[in-house]
Amino acid sequence: MRKDHLRPLFKETKLDLDDLVMPIFVDETISKPKEISSMPGYYRIPLGQVADEVGKAMDLGLKAFILFGIPAYKDEIGSSAFAKNGVIQRAVREIKGEHPDAVVVTDVCLCEYTTHGHCGVVRDGVVLNDETLPILGRIAVSHAEAGADIVAPSGMMDGMVKAIRDALDSEGYRDVAIMSYSAKYASSFYGPFREAAESGYKFGDRRSYQMDIHNRNEALREVELDIEEGADIVMVKPALAYLDIVRTVKDRFGVPTAAYNVSGEYSMVKASAMNGWLDEKAIVYEILVSIKRAGADLIITYHAKDFAKWFNEGSL
Ligand code: PBG
Repeated sequence: MRKDHLRPLFKETKLDLDDLVMPIFVDETISKPKEISSMPGYYRIPLGQVADEVGKAMDLGLKAFILFGIPAYKDEIGSSAFAKNGVIQRAVREIKGEHPDAVVVTDVCLCEYTTHGHCGVVRDGVVLNDETLPILGRIAVSHAEAGADIVAPSGMMDGMVKAIRDALDSEGYRDVAIMSYSAKYASSFYGPFREAAESGYKFGDRRSYQMDIHNRNEALREVELDIEEGADIVMVKPALAYLDIVRTVKDRFGVPTAAYNVSGEYSMVKASAMNGWLDEKAIVYEILVSIKRAGADLIITYHAKDFAKWFNEGSL
């Protein structure tokens, strides 16, 4: 192991471009890309340019994309989330029209589309789980209709996977897969995303539906329920502070497991790199290897494009 040319033979963890999923924020209110101030180097993309953005990433070797929408219109129940010509539905059609081979994942949630910013229907200040489920079914069907390959419910409503599976099946979208944000913690690491997607909440917080950061057994129960309800891929989110959960989920269930390297994790690295405090390339590589080593099959990461460039240059 002391010789440089021997070590690659013993490398236990290998990262590949098809381990990565690149997030894209699609904004129907802008006409040119707009940098997200809390996520340096990351942009909201206007409709009309999103297929191009995907094309460039595919040229780098990336294959999978997860879409988040910033709609022009919000209301109490998030109706533009399931509109036929909503921002995501149009974005998916644009992408699939030009790049039928791109793997298109859509985030299925209400928070970007509701005036109150919560992930479910709200009455008297309370998020209503069961009333939200049929709406999630409608959103998923509208994404499938537009051509999405995988729908990814992120609202942590109980029963969301089954509601979506039933809705998709009854509309004939049996082959559309579900990636569930199964163990999604009520984390402060989502801060920058809420600016990026304009999905901050107007009152309260998300702790009534997202998970308590102290809990591990609860995460396993959440994952188990989602698998029973028909999830094809389960996700742990955030990634870095929850690598123990990723490892346990993978060992316990052995199903395709994703980890979301979230906005706050990205911004911490960028801020340090911009100050010259950390070597960005080396740090990103180490972070992504650690997530893979923990057991993730898929990593959703804002570093995807940078990583792909370094990977292709052979400079990692
Ligand atoms: C929406 C959603 C969030 C993220 C993904 N989907 C934010 C939240 O729950 O507040 C966070 C992603 C990130 O921080 O990168 N439910």
